[in-house]
Amino acid sequence: MFHTPVAPRPRKRSRSTEAGVLRHEEVKFEDVRLHLLERKMGSSRRRFLTQLARSKGFIVEDALSDAVTHVVSEESQASSLWKWLKGCDLKNLPGMHVLDISWFTDSMREGRPVAVETRHLIQDTSPTLPEAPAPTPASTVSQYACQRRTTTENYNKIFTDAFEVLAESYEFNEIEGPCLAFRRAASVLKSLPWAVQRLGATEDLPCLGDHSKAVMEEILQYGRSFEVEKVLSDERYQTLKLFTSVFGVGPKTGEKWYRRGLRSFSDILAEPSIQLNRMQQSGFLHYGDISRAVSKAEAQALGNIIDEAVRAITPDAVLALTGGFRRGKEFGHDVDFIVTTTEQGKEKRLLTSLIDQLKEQGILLFCDHQASTFDMSKLPSHRFEAMDHFAKCFLILRLEGSQVVGGLHGAEGDGRGWRAVRVDLVSPPIDRYAFALLGWTGSRQFERDLRRFARTERRMLLDNHALFDKTK
Ligand code: UTP
Ligand code: MG
Repeated sequence: MFHTPVAPRPRKRSRSTEAGVLRHEEVKFEDVRLHLLERKMGSSRRRFLTQLARSKGFIVEDALSDAVTHVVSEESQASSLWKWLKGCDLKNLPGMHVLDISWFTDSMREGRPVAVETRHLIQDTSPTLPEAPAPTPASTVSQYACQRRTTTENYNKIFTDAFEVLAESYEFNEIEGPCLAFRRAASVLKSLPWAVQRLGATEDLPCLGDHSKAVMEEILQYGRSFEVEKVLSDERYQTLKLFTSVFGVGPKTGEKWYRRGLRSFSDILAEPSIQLNRMQQSGFLHYGDISRAVSKAEAQALGNIIDEAVRAITPDAVLALTGGFRRGKEFGHDVDFIVTTTEQGKEKRLLTSLIDQLKEQGILLFCDHQASTFDMSKLPSHRFEAMDHFAKCFLILRLEGSQVVGGLHGAEGDGRGWRAVRVDLVSPPIDRYAFALLGWTGSRQFERDLRRFARTERRMLLDNHALFDKTK
């Protein structure tokens, strides 16, 4: 299984076509075995996509079996798809990527299996969901994400994916207003336990402006948004998207490289005047691994490793899994933890000791440690700060497959038996634990709206450090 550009290993392979005629097609990606689900896709579209993939060197299995590594589906209802998959008697289902068509189209465009990102995955959330979700009246949906009950099942992915592309495009152009507006609109749609099927149904929903509605209308009418397609085919967007997918490369650096005429990773790596910093060097070195989604089992394995390491340093250590995994996500881009001690002040040396411990174990592949600048007497800060002042470190850790229940996610055939994973550790003093835990649980929109709610509805100031009453 691979997620980086892979050197093709061409091999001729006989494969029978639908008509039963033998044809020779070049298999370029032996470790990836696709199966396109006919459910919702229909047989003629499936036939067409199968031929397309095979012509590009992909192996497409006609039958869904344990040999399949990537299942591609056009089913928008994750729960019914997963219910069906679970009834298929597959032993390897937990090891398969269950992907929406965006992964397939991205891979066809690139001519290789692209890295599986969280946005490609159709996640199994069925145990927590009601069988038939009761519709919520649009008029009762709050404008604040922190007042909306949101599950990990997204019934409006077709719209929210489109909004995310547009938000990102505005972000790349540093146009903040519409960027936030699209993210807010996406967050509202994600909270709905029903799929929007006509624009009229959105009338009473908050945070949906004219632009968002126009995009939705296009999607409802044509099944796609022309504005989104234009962005997706834009060279600048594509390049910035690629560059910012590297750990340590933000929109500013991406833009700088783009302006210098660079368009690909090989352009960057071949450009002698570019000095990559340590983080970016590690980002390139481990690109394949860290752009691959991290599974819940992998997050749990890392939790066990870190738990053991901190407990060896101090028995009164406190460790909490935060970020997306704390919210119940099945997959994430990294694993976030809070690590501290029950004795106030003792946390000051904790992160450095923990880093030393991980280094000794030989699993520390990268570490960017930021010492604490936290000073209670300087709070509250009236300036909005995305980052808090607690000690933290951004790591890349080596995770052995043998330590993960069910093995590494999507590592079939890579033969290494380990993968690199991005891990963030934050270490607040214990009396700030609750605020740090709340702030690091996310989602980003939830946090943004929680602060806005505190400010405008309660006249209070909330950040990752504390909650202040503005009237006192
Ligand atoms: P992440 O970026 O890890 O997002 O930040 P996530 O929700 O876990 O999703 P994936 O799966 O990794 O992509 C986790 C939370 O930590 C907060 C963010 O606001 C986010 O809600 N955070 C992150 C901070 O408060 N400060 C930081 O410096 C970084
Ligand atoms: Mg995270």
